[in-house]
Amino acid sequence: MSRFWSPVVHQLTPYVPGEQPKLDTLIKLNTNENPYGPSPKVLAAIRAATDDSLRLYPDPSGEKLKDAIAGYHGVSRPQVFVGNSSDEVLGIVFQALLKHEQPLLMPDISYGFYPVYCGLFGIEARQVPLDDSLSIRVEDYRQPCGGVILANPNAPTGRLLPLSAIRQLLDDHPDQVVVIDEAYVDFGGETAIALVNDYPNLLVVHTLSKSRSLAGLRVGYAVGDATLIEALERVKNSFNAYPLDRLALAGAVASFEDDDYFRHTCQAVMRTREQLTVQLQALGFEVLPSAANFVFARHPQHDAAMLATGLRQQAVIVRHFTAPRINQYLRISIGTDAECTRLVQVLGSLLS
Ligand SMILES: Cc1ncc(COP(=O)(O)O)c(C=O)c1O
Repeated sequence: MSRFWSPVVHQLTPYVPGEQPKLDTLIKLNTNENPYGPSPKVLAAIRAATDDSLRLYPDPSGEKLKDAIAGYHGVSRPQVFVGNSSDEVLGIVFQALLKHEQPLLMPDISYGFYPVYCGLFGIEARQVPLDDSLSIRVEDYRQPCGGVILANPNAPTGRLLPLSAIRQLLDDHPDQVVVIDEAYVDFGGETAIALVNDYPNLLVVHTLSKSRSLAGLRVGYAVGDATLIEALERVKNSFNAYPLDRLALAGAVASFEDDDYFRHTCQAVMRTREQLTVQLQALGFEVLPSAANFVFARHPQHDAAMLATGLRQQAVIVRHFTAPRINQYLRISIGTDAECTRLVQVLGSLLS
C-alpha cells in the first residue's frame, strides 16, 4: 500500500501463479508444463537466431510466425494474432473485445486469470455455475451478456465440450464475441478454429506452453475473423509494438515445422494420462474425464489439502485450489511415466 499508487491498484486481486520451486529435485506436477523438452529443431532454431541480429528489433507483427500458424490451421494471415504468451493475448482480448455494457459471462470454475483481467480492465463479470458434475452447460449461457469466455477443455477440471456445444453457444450469441481458450485442446479435443470462417463472433486462443513444451518461451496466439484480429492489433500497438522477441519468433516457427515431434509428445502425454487415471482409480480416487495434460481427482475419504501437503513432504508437488466447490480435488499435471509412478507410490503410502 502506498500513496503513490494509482487508485485502481488498491482494488486489484492479482493472479497467483502455481509455485515455480527453486529446487530441481522436486517432481513438479503443479503447473501443467509438458514433461518432455521442446523439439530439438526448436532449440536449434533458437541457437541459430542467437547472433548479432539481437541488436535489432524483431518483426513487430511476427509475420513469419503468423504464416506458420495460418498454414497449420488452414486460415489466412489476417485471421491470426500473436503475443508474448496466451496470458498476454487474453489480456489484450479482454481489453479489445470483452468490455461492454452487459456483463461478461464465464464459468464459475475456470482459469483464474479471467476474473483478474476483469478487475484490471473494469469489466463486469457474471460467473455461470458449472453443473453438479463440474461440466459447462451451454444452455445456462442463454442470457443477455456483453460476451462469453470459457476454456475448452476447461481448467482445472479437464472436461471437454464437443464442437456441437460451441456451435450452439455461437448461435445463441450472434451479437457477442465468444472466446474459446484452447490452452489444452491438443491433448484430445477438437479445435473450434474449424468454425472461424462460419462465425465472425468466434475467437480461439492457443498457447505454445503446453502441447508444444514451450512454457519458458512465452508464445500464444488467437485465431478469428480479421475484424476481431484488427481490434487486437490496435490494442497491442497501443501498448507494446514488439511483444515477441527474435528468439521466441524463431523457436515458435520451428515448432510448427516439426509436426512429428509435436504429435508424438502429445500422444505420450495422453497415454500416461490414461494409465494414471486407472492407477488413481485403483487407489479409490474419483477422476474427472480429462482431455487435458492434467487430471482433476478427489478421494472420498482423504482431505485434498492434507494429501497435497503429504505429497510435498515427499518432494512431489501438485496443485490444490481452496475455492469451495473444488477444495477436495487435486489437479495433477501429467509427468513422465516415471514421475507419475512415483506420485502413485507416494499417494499409496499416504492413503494406507
Ligand atoms: C486455461 C489456460 N489458459 C491460458 C493459460 C496461460 O498460458 P500461457 O500464458 O503460458 O500461454 C493457462 C496456463 O496455465 C491456462 O490454464
